[in-house]
Amino acid sequence: MDPRTNPFAPGAGARPPAFAGREQILEAADIALDRQIAGRHANSMILLGLRGVGKTVLLNRLHEEAKAKGYETVRLEVPDAAGGHLARMLVPMLDSVLRRLDRRQAAQDAMGRAGAALVNFAAAFKISYQGFALGLDGDGLAAGSGNMEADLPDLMRAVWEAAADRKTALGLFIDEVQYLSRDELSALARTCHEAAQQGGRFLMIGAGLPQIAALAGDAKSYAERLFSYPEVGPLSDAAAREVLSRPAAEEGVAFEDAALDRIVADTEGYAYFLQSWGKFVWDEADASPITEDDVIRAHPAIRADLDESFFRVRYDRSSPAEQQYLRAMAELGPGPHQTGDVAKILGTESSQVANTRRKLIEAGMIYSQRHGETAFTVPLFDTFMRRTMPDLVPYTPRKRG
Ligand SMILES: Nc1ncnc2c1ncn2[C@@H]1O[C@H](COP(=O)(O)OP(=O)(O)OP(=O)(O)O)[C@@H](O)[C@H]1O
Ligand SMILES: [Mg+2]
Repeated sequence: MDPRTNPFAPGAGARPPAFAGREQILEAADIALDRQIAGRHANSMILLGLRGVGKTVLLNRLHEEAKAKGYETVRLEVPDAAGGHLARMLVPMLDSVLRRLDRRQAAQDAMGRAGAALVNFAAAFKISYQGFALGLDGDGLAAGSGNMEADLPDLMRAVWEAAADRKTALGLFIDEVQYLSRDELSALARTCHEAAQQGGRFLMIGAGLPQIAALAGDAKSYAERLFSYPEVGPLSDAAAREVLSRPAAEEGVAFEDAALDRIVADTEGYAYFLQSWGKFVWDEADASPITEDDVIRAHPAIRADLDESFFRVRYDRSSPAEQQYLRAMAELGPGPHQTGDVAKILGTESSQVANTRRKLIEAGMIYSQRHGETAFTVPLFDTFMRRTMPDLVPYTPRKRG
């Protein structure tokens, strides 16, 4: 059918033509946002899920909701695991928040303190910042020690107090949370801790890969209690059908039940795959209704596109040793797998490949939810690995020198 009217939207963070499922998380976040802006405590949350399940789209939606409720917000995406991004990204964004707050009428002293804290914070983390023209009557030392764990809570408190003066609250939305450094994560946990203790009008909603739960627990033992960790999984059968049939119906196109059954089974309900199947099946079909046969005929195009767009980009970023490790995991199937079993497939001991495994976790390719276990962060990645690297190469120790 006409690709011009094809409604489906596979792509990182792409707004789907029909957003389905997630009712429980939306409801929980709605309650938390309403409570916090009214000065009642609510836990901050971190949405956890695999690649392509729909975390970014959900985070964006919650961000829109927070803004609609009157929150002052900051939204950022941590670019990679290099660390040190948080301060650099926060300074200009908090500057915008203060400028917007300044336009709301209220007493200036909390604003002055927040402005001073931001200037100090920027200086402490060597971020060039002109400073916000406020009567900087605040504490000359706030947020300027250079210790992230101390400074970030100071800074955020100054900002949420300025927000509270203006009868609003501060919402912090962070995507790809697993790329935060340990210091940054501790500092955020601490910020949430202080907000809880002082009744601060502050809520953080993050999104990231599942390993973050273990990491946050590591960073601060109380992180387990500070955050809730809603799981973003595959869509339910009914939601998956809606994702496909609603946008098609809006274009006057129907899916036969057998076609929907087939797509739901193929995609296992993963949001990215549903959009991808929808797109290629639409292009393949000649007319409405779309049949199971159309789905089957679209398979080669879907696979080629997923290999190039979804799987390959991640694979290409890995070193040869990392690729061998991924290939060994794929030999065992979708996972999760015992780390010892992966080493056995490579013909070696876990300790020999521990470094490779750690790098893959840092890069967000694999994760470990339970000790001694390893799983792919990309759904169906095992099938891709077997296609792209038909042969398994055993581990060979690197020569020194
Ligand atoms: N609830 C939903 N209903 C329908 N489609 C969705 C839904 N959530 C996400 N999608 C679609 O799925 C695809 C992936 O979504 P998104 O980029 O949010 O995933 P992600 O979990 O952030 O992935 P990554 O870990 O790679 O960043 C997009 O094409 C998006 O349009
Ligand atoms: Mg995302």
